[in-house]
Amino acid sequence: MAVTLGIGMGYAMADKSYMTDKGVAVFYPSGYDATQHEPSPIFVNKLKFVGDVPAEWNLRPEFSISDGKSMVRIPVGEGVDFYGNGEVSGPLRRNGKEVRFWNTDAPKYEADEGRRLYQSHPWVLGVRQDGTAFGVIADNTWKSSVTMDDDIVFESEGPAFRVIVIEKESPAEVLKSLADLTGHIEMPPLWALGYQQCRWSYFPDTRVKEIADSLRINRIPSDVIWMDIDYMDKFKIFTFDKEKFPDPKGLNDYLHDRNFKSVYMIDPGVKVEEGYWVDDQGTDADYWVKDASGKPYVGEVWPGLCHFPDFTRPEVREWWGTLYKDYMATGIDGVWNDMNEPAIFNVETSTMPEDNCHLGGGGLAPGPHLRYHNVFGYNMVKASRDGILAANPDKRPFVLTRSNFLGGHRYAATWTGDNASDPELMKMSIPMTLNLGLSGQPFSGPDIGGFFGDCTPELLSQWTSMGVYFPFVRNHSAAGTRSQEPWAFGPETLEVCRTAINRRYRLLPYIYTLFREAYEDGMPVMRPLFFADVKDPSLRSEQKAFLLGGDLMIVPRWAENTARPNGEWNKIVLEDTPDDGVQANLYQRPGSIIPVAELSQNTTEYNTDRLTLLVSFDPHGKATGRIYEDAGDGFEFRDGQYADYIATASTDGNDVTVRLSQTGGNWNKPPRSIRVGLVTPKGIEYTPWTEGEVVSFKL
Ligand code: GLC
Repeated sequence: MAVTLGIGMGYAMADKSYMTDKGVAVFYPSGYDATQHEPSPIFVNKLKFVGDVPAEWNLRPEFSISDGKSMVRIPVGEGVDFYGNGEVSGPLRRNGKEVRFWNTDAPKYEADEGRRLYQSHPWVLGVRQDGTAFGVIADNTWKSSVTMDDDIVFESEGPAFRVIVIEKESPAEVLKSLADLTGHIEMPPLWALGYQQCRWSYFPDTRVKEIADSLRINRIPSDVIWMDIDYMDKFKIFTFDKEKFPDPKGLNDYLHDRNFKSVYMIDPGVKVEEGYWVDDQGTDADYWVKDASGKPYVGEVWPGLCHFPDFTRPEVREWWGTLYKDYMATGIDGVWNDMNEPAIFNVETSTMPEDNCHLGGGGLAPGPHLRYHNVFGYNMVKASRDGILAANPDKRPFVLTRSNFLGGHRYAATWTGDNASDPELMKMSIPMTLNLGLSGQPFSGPDIGGFFGDCTPELLSQWTSMGVYFPFVRNHSAAGTRSQEPWAFGPETLEVCRTAINRRYRLLPYIYTLFREAYEDGMPVMRPLFFADVKDPSLRSEQKAFLLGGDLMIVPRWAENTARPNGEWNKIVLEDTPDDGVQANLYQRPGSIIPVAELSQNTTEYNTDRLTLLVSFDPHGKATGRIYEDAGDGFEFRDGQYADYIATASTDGNDVTVRLSQTGGNWNKPPRSIRVGLVTPKGIEYTPWTEGEVVSFKL
């Protein structure tokens, strides 16, 4: 049935609309049924009325129902560049693309020709030629899709849904507004920003120890070793294989003694097995997702036939959280939630039937899988995070997830699923991670080296040399492929990887500050190049070169003819990390100060007692930067236990003064040594180390 109100093609203007924040309007279709969409998983708070939509408001969604589908069209006019859409394959700029929101186990991003992946973010960021920007949220979890041309068109298999439009002066302001609506990330533990080593098939525990030892012996700075499904007893979650992993606490102690953290995998599928306590508890309490006939749904995953917790139910999430208590008590530091689209083996759809039933609760109506599929992973990681936090209330939880939904960055970091050891997929990981950042998820990255297939020395070198500038840095590969650790290809590759990872660790003061910015403002950690100058149209499609924060441009060595922002961005090569011809080229923004630490082998050893300030003057002889520091874990920072500094530098062409001033927090760092690295077209010139907060010298 088409609703026609005279604007053509069966579309009608909103039935109701209002402002819900400054520059944020919400539009409701006629016949809107809140029970089919609310409480929304996207927003941290209920959208409230703060005023009427002004008459001059430009972007007005039009609604229609045709062929049983709920449609929304947002005419945006010409000359808009589209971004966002969450986790997507293909280019950074999304014009002309279609994205399907139906979370899918998508090996090599091949399902539906790459149109649907593991996560759904019904979100579009639009940037106009003049640099002003807008964002559109479809507040809808049902199976749906979006296309972006002169119009943005959402199409859903569920009931009519509301649309939120953000109008701002810049993309950064849109993202800040998105974060205000959907929540800010929590500060991650510092260790989660270090280099991480993973592989499906690190077993038995002696092999895990060997990997840890090799990282230290080879002087690869590193913080985390990952346990894939291999540690479990017959892939039963929350269990340990008695032979391969007889003493998990002992293993975790071993890792901790060497300054490693451990992250272990937990999938959603619970093996159907009488006498297996997790299955027994869920069955006794009737916690499983049901099939259309009301019986617990059974699907096949790694352990064989499995039950699946109905994470839409508050009491199930609560129960799920409690499972982590004894588990974390073995010394596990972080949790990896995988297969949570949910992925099901040996069925054509590779997931549950759309007519499976979820009970909801806590204000959420019961509904079919068609409605709740896209938030299965989201609700799972929400429960995981809460459970981990309850188990270790003094530590910052770390959860990595494969599946998620818009707003789910509040609960988990993400990796981009099962890629392959293929140079094209390495290149694609840049726009993927950038678009996740432009969709509210600042903490993500790909499997470095590639998951499927055999990596090569060249590929691992190239991938590591660029991957260390992503927010999340983890080398991971599939069982049965050739080994892919930095040392697995001989001394030359090892050297290149070590140099790249050394650079990561030296840049940690800068990177940690970027995570603080993400926490405060929703700014992506890794940003597209056009953020350097949103008015410069030549930067809009650049997806080989990218920015780490606002001040560092990364140009991978394989990237040719990349766009460049205006101004004198000088190349910097940090000491102890020589330019070997493979490392990505780094360029510093004129007018910026980047803090750099001495090299450390892990974040436990990391400190900023000796801090180098890389100063790159703008044409007026000025530069500024920021350094945020806290304990790197725990929550004392919320009570002021942190130190925020502004670094300022100025020169009249003869004298230079650089000053570090604490602007926030009541954490008093003991006195430290600082020095300046003056960034010039010829390289970096260092001053001697001095105690205190001021460095003055003559040019
Ligand atoms: C999935 C994950 C992958 C993991 C594998 C085995 O394919 O995406 O990262 O290694 O399962 O658990």
